Amino acid sequence: MELATADTSLVQASGTPELPPGPDWPVVRSTARWWRRPLQTLEECGARYGDMFTYRLAHEGAWVFISDPEAVKQVFTGDPRLLHAGEANTVLLPVLGEHSVLLLDEPQHMAQRKLMLPPFHGKRMQAYGEVMTRIAAEEIDSWPADQPVRMRPRMQAVTLEVILRAVFGVEEGERLSLLRDELRRMLDLISNPRRAIFLLLLGAERLRRFRPFQRYVERVDRLIYAEIQGRRASGDLAGREDILSLLLEARDEDGRELSDRELRDELMTLLFAGHETTATALSWAIQLLARHPAELARLEGEVESEGEDYLDAVIKETLRLRPVVALVLRRLVEPMEIGGRLLPAGANVAPSIYLVHRRPDVYPEPERFRPERFIERPPGTYTWIPFGGGVRRCLGASFAEFEMAVVLRELVRRRRLLPAGAVEHPVRRTITMVPSRGGEVVAAPR
Ligand code: HEM
Repeated sequence: MELATADTSLVQASGTPELPPGPDWPVVRSTARWWRRPLQTLEECGARYGDMFTYRLAHEGAWVFISDPEAVKQVFTGDPRLLHAGEANTVLLPVLGEHSVLLLDEPQHMAQRKLMLPPFHGKRMQAYGEVMTRIAAEEIDSWPADQPVRMRPRMQAVTLEVILRAVFGVEEGERLSLLRDELRRMLDLISNPRRAIFLLLLGAERLRRFRPFQRYVERVDRLIYAEIQGRRASGDLAGREDILSLLLEARDEDGRELSDRELRDELMTLLFAGHETTATALSWAIQLLARHPAELARLEGEVESEGEDYLDAVIKETLRLRPVVALVLRRLVEPMEIGGRLLPAGANVAPSIYLVHRRPDVYPEPERFRPERFIERPPGTYTWIPFGGGVRRCLGASFAEFEMAVVLRELVRRRRLLPAGAVEHPVRRTITMVPSRGGEVVAAPR
């Protein structure tokens, strides 16, 4: 349930708040290691310290990783006044803007989230099926049939196009190609790891005033504002299905509508939160299928007979085994008891998606790609958490799963997937965990 919160998370416990044990390395070392090998670091610390440990990072302070489902539940159902997620994301402020639902907390966050929820309702996604199928089919048909193709850039092209059409609602033509070019330029700037580390080191405030960066944002903003104003003036909102048009029509309980500035910030948020994440998840799904012929054959059979259950299980298992982000964050406003320990105010509690998804007590043989597990048992609210949880759960989860299903169905119908080269491992790309060689496969003709 979206809005449910548990009063039990308020501090009643007495005693001195303290952080759980963790590596006592100098912060430069722990930061460098986290940056270079996040998953290995999580695994090693989990093996050494158990379900809860402290990890220190430069500029970030103490992160308390948790991986016990009961503790994760406490965080996801805890009082959002005490568990700030927006505050923990301020590094994104210069790009997303101060109205972004990702960066707000407390009543402002809930107000913005309520306005944005209806367009993302699961059933509404059907409306985007046709445009998503067309985009996927055109992209897949453009690939060579006899040499490896790197899936991640190809899937990024698909997810960017889907966002431009289904979220921004831009039609084919000059405006679409201008916006596509400018957005690509900006996305390259913020998701290229080498540049991103420089931008992160600058910090949110200095970055906002950094002239070359401002110029990127201004160019994109001009196009987005033109789109918003054009759409307001067009008078045909009622007949449109794209998310920008639905947001333009949204009203809160007092009849207030979103301002142009708020709309701009939310469009940037949807682009930023939905583009690279979905592309990464798709590249992993394709990688895994290419390397698991029995599972691929079962999927091909199901797609031929118009079924959907196994496809859904493939998507769920991909997001379990190769979660796109390794953790989510909440900053404690007051001391709070979590997992039997009173944690101090200011600590960042980090439910670790990666470690939760690898618990052998929840997922036997956790290293194995076995979509059947989600046919045998539906995913648990606090044990399958690729989209986070509670009042901050990913707004685009249904959108992403629906898009993944459309693209995978189209791919399996049109091509025969084969592995290329050695097995790929997850490596960090700013905040997402991507296949080490970009997800290479051969997509032979059927
Ligand atoms: C496979 C693809 C995706 C993954 C793995 C993913 C994952 C996440 C995660 C982990 C969070 C943070 C949740 C938390 O703190 O508890 C999040 C938040 C969010 N995501 Fe996604 N996401 C995906 C696709 C999308 C798409 C397609 C959109 C929109 C088009 C989107 C929009 C958002 C928004 C707006 C938030 C902020 C919600 C809030 O703070 O209230 N995401 N996502």
